[in-house]
Amino acid sequence: MATLKLGVLGSGSGSNMQSIVDAIEKGELDAEIKIVLADVKDAYILERAAKHNIPHQWIDCSPWKTRLDTTGEETAIRLLKEAGCDTVVLAGFMRIVKPRLLEAFPMRVLNIHPALLPAFPGVHSWTQALDYGCKVAGVTVHFVDAGTDSGPIIVQKCVPVLEDDTPETLHARIQVQEHLAFPEALKLLSEGRLRVEGRRVHIS
Ligand code: GAR
Repeated sequence: MATLKLGVLGSGSGSNMQSIVDAIEKGELDAEIKIVLADVKDAYILERAAKHNIPHQWIDCSPWKTRLDTTGEETAIRLLKEAGCDTVVLAGFMRIVKPRLLEAFPMRVLNIHPALLPAFPGVHSWTQALDYGCKVAGVTVHFVDAGTDSGPIIVQKCVPVLEDDTPETLHARIQVQEHLAFPEALKLLSEGRLRVEGRRVHIS
């Protein structure tokens, strides 16, 4: 199958992007990261990209909004297209993307969310799981649709919630699984093994 040409959008540390870079470098994932975009100027994900000689750029978005605004979206689409991306990876991108970007990359936008969706969409999902009294928590990689954390699910992994967990210890345990889940989902996509039928993603 064809090498994935990835565009990564992030807002924070970029540890998920790092797990994708590592999988590519180890020869476990047939993909190339063409560009990394961040909506936060000093996000560490941009530094990680620089260390791996991956083109990277800050995109100027309205700071108070939780959605990608129109200017930010148009810039992102242009940069992703110019870089030759065929797949967009939301790796800790803390804004909801709008339909224009989804239309530009139909069924080729993937998100990672630190919860077992459909439980706990939105922010600080690990704290929500802890406060709710869940005994298991986890991570979901899914195709992005017009809703919030609501698209068809590709991979899920779970972790136990321990008696003495804090939000930080639970998030750290979830992140270990995140770093396996995202490369795994992308590998399935690169091998052409995903078929979406309604809400269900069939894996061959
Ligand atoms: C990850 O835990 C990811 O699941 C979460 O942000 C963190 C980013 O970490 N994403 C969301 O909450 C999206 N709704 P990273 O920058 O180290 O990859």
